[in-house]
Amino acid sequence: MTEQIYKGLAGVVADHTAVSKVNPESNSLLYRGYPVQELAAALSFEEVALLLWNGELPSSAEKQEFLDFERSHRALDPRVRSAIDLLPLDCHPMDVGRTAVSVLGANHPLSEDSSPEAELTKAKELFAVFPAVVAYDQRRRRGLELVEPRQDLDYSQNFLWMTFGEEAPEEVVDAFRVSMVLYAEHSFNASTFTARVVTSTLADLHSAVTAAIGALKGPLHGGANEAVMHTFEEIGIDPAETREDAAARAKAWMEQALAEKRKVMGFGHRVYKSGDSRVPTMKQALDAMVEYYGRGELMGLYDGLESAMGEAKNILPNLDYPAGPTYHLMGFDTEMFTPLFIAARITGWTAHIAEQRANNALIRPLSAYNGPDERHL
Ligand code: COA
Repeated sequence: MTEQIYKGLAGVVADHTAVSKVNPESNSLLYRGYPVQELAAALSFEEVALLLWNGELPSSAEKQEFLDFERSHRALDPRVRSAIDLLPLDCHPMDVGRTAVSVLGANHPLSEDSSPEAELTKAKELFAVFPAVVAYDQRRRRGLELVEPRQDLDYSQNFLWMTFGEEAPEEVVDAFRVSMVLYAEHSFNASTFTARVVTSTLADLHSAVTAAIGALKGPLHGGANEAVMHTFEEIGIDPAETREDAAARAKAWMEQALAEKRKVMGFGHRVYKSGDSRVPTMKQALDAMVEYYGRGELMGLYDGLESAMGEAKNILPNLDYPAGPTYHLMGFDTEMFTPLFIAARITGWTAHIAEQRANNALIRPLSAYNGPDERHL
């Protein structure tokens, strides 16, 4: 008997979810029913997090309660800081993020309490503290001291404050907020599915998030935003170049890459085949950053690659494509881009963990054996 194999689980509907809906036909993405573009235009990341966890937008009292909670849970636990300090400066920052979540779990008094209330508390704490992990790691790699969080700043402002040690301009804060909202959730992607698989074994929330971070690290998933910047670097970034010249060089580079059958990160998607719903909103944020920093040549590289890929293969950019250069312009090192994705996706992962727990079935597919026939010693 030959079993039907769904390689990469492509096309397999594994379960229901009420967290988000990806519709490739209409290129739309809804978080709890709301189009992500509307959320990105109007809401803070904190409000979007509450929507993902609770299923509804918060009342003003609920929002205030969460803002107070979030602001009081931002500081890096000294045990986490010590664990980070044990990690070499040349390890990947995703290893730091993964280790930090694991250490937080090992020290958490509610680690083994999987009641909905305890799970939500742990999710909110992770949301609040993860920026400190990213910011501290970015700073230590530059030989800089930790910057303490500030309670008078919102999530995005404080994230940038802790990273760069100065208040970010409004334009930058807004582009950062938009990126967090767009990265927050995307149904059964590889890392979310990983979190659900781990949860399905009844393991704890921090184990599920740690595993999800491992899945996110790969360049076919979250690591693509870094890889986009490596592509730009490989082509060569020269702020003095004109936009047109940069575009022409990028086009030539892409033609060569495709002739060599290279996969170019930041393009293509398993679900969207005619455009990623999040790209136009993220592209607007990138445009704002390009204008703010006066770096038209980066847009030249961006446009050149996109048009050459479109002409040659009709493959369109995904969210990582505009997100990579946006984070670059803000001043983050390239390797920090995927940890920024973690900070955002903690919301979606933990919403899915709660959903999985509420209606659990162990996730355990079958395999079709194709090894040697039975044999004996
Ligand atoms: N660059 C060049 N070719 C690409 C491509 C890319 N980024 N993405 C897809 N293709 C091509 C493949 O080479 C393949 O061509 P072929 O049929 O001639 O062999 C075809 O398109 C189908 O690609 P495949 O990888 O099988 O589709 P998938 O549904 O499994 O892939 C991704 C989805 C995301 C894994 C894939 O598009 C990819 O690797 N993209 C780059 C990584 C990335 O940006 N990831 C972030 C996703 S949000």
